[in-house]
Amino acid sequence: GDLPLILGIESSCDETGVGLVRGCELLSDHVASSVDEHARFGGVVPEVASRAHLEAMTPTLRRALDDAGVKLADVDAIAVTAGPGLAGALLVGISAAKAYALALGKPLYGVNHLVGHVAVDQLEHGPLPKPVVALLVSGGHTSLLLVRDVATDVMMLGDTVDDAAGEAYDKVARLLDLPYPGGPPIDRAARDGDPTAIRFPRGKWGDGTYDFSFSGLKTAVARWVEDSERDGRALSVPDIAAAFQESVVDVLTRKAVDACGEHGVGTLVISGGVAANSRLRGLAEQRCAEAGVELRVPRPRLCTDNGAMIAALGAEVVAAGLPPATLDLASDTSLP
Ligand code: KG4
Ligand code: ZN
Repeated sequence: GDLPLILGIESSCDETGVGLVRGCELLSDHVASSVDEHARFGGVVPEVASRAHLEAMTPTLRRALDDAGVKLADVDAIAVTAGPGLAGALLVGISAAKAYALALGKPLYGVNHLVGHVAVDQLEHGPLPKPVVALLVSGGHTSLLLVRDVATDVMMLGDTVDDAAGEAYDKVARLLDLPYPGGPPIDRAARDGDPTAIRFPRGKWGDGTYDFSFSGLKTAVARWVEDSERDGRALSVPDIAAAFQESVVDVLTRKAVDACGEHGVGTLVISGGVAANSRLRGLAEQRCAEAGVELRVPRPRLCTDNGAMIAALGAEVVAAGLPPATLDLASDTSLP
């Protein structure tokens, strides 16, 4: 093709991802995850993640190249996650990207992981309209963005003030003796539960901001479980799961659709690991339809952390003609 071949490298958390794209075309996407190594700790252990990235980087790159049927020398530009994320984890991807860029004599671009979660939708649904509102929900982030252009104009409308949405799922799963990561088992359990059985608090509901809060909800679930045990009441895991999930999803979808209305935006993108949630998808579809907003949710494989999303954003950055990074590109763990 005429479009440049972009290599994308992701290592901000526990997934080592390498992807290759041309424009909106996905050529390959390989991910090595260290999630199993973190499972017994109930959350990501930074040092364990860094070591796993180091071991997985080269094999993952090789698989991605083989899959796309290209050679490293064919790559026109390299995009790497510069942040936000874990410092040691980011460093592995950035160091690898610098080495490839230097060896190949190709430009290097440091890109924002959060915006990558938005750009990846182009690989599934084609070019993004401008603007879009994006709701990013994963184990590490819960952000609402106004995206006028993925390469050049992204504004943060709101963020979680405490736990990320996925983190809340993981912590509540632990309270209910469900396995880590907690999203999928809670999603499944909730299908047999009554979401109105318990009314858990909706953090920051109607507070006039686009921020989120989930720690009060988690505490409310913990208290419910403790009280039930103390009073010898039987715990209905499906009811608790359904009621907890309704509280999370109700606030997420309400604020996302409100943001579309306030900013006159016709498209909502939902991405991140929690975008796989069946109730989030269902309620978002319903509320978007009511509000006349188009909903775009990439397939789960593209919603979770991967290298293709970084390559997809890299392709836009190259197309926008932005200047490449130099070899002193540093990670920015709290990149806004
Ligand atoms: O994007 P991701 O794979 O990794 C990052 O955190 O960046 O997201 C993982 C998170 C975990 O907290 C997991 O519990 C949650 O996404 N998750 C879900 C579902 N599948 C994964 N949460 C709710 N419902 C799901 N079906
Ligand atoms: Zn992510």
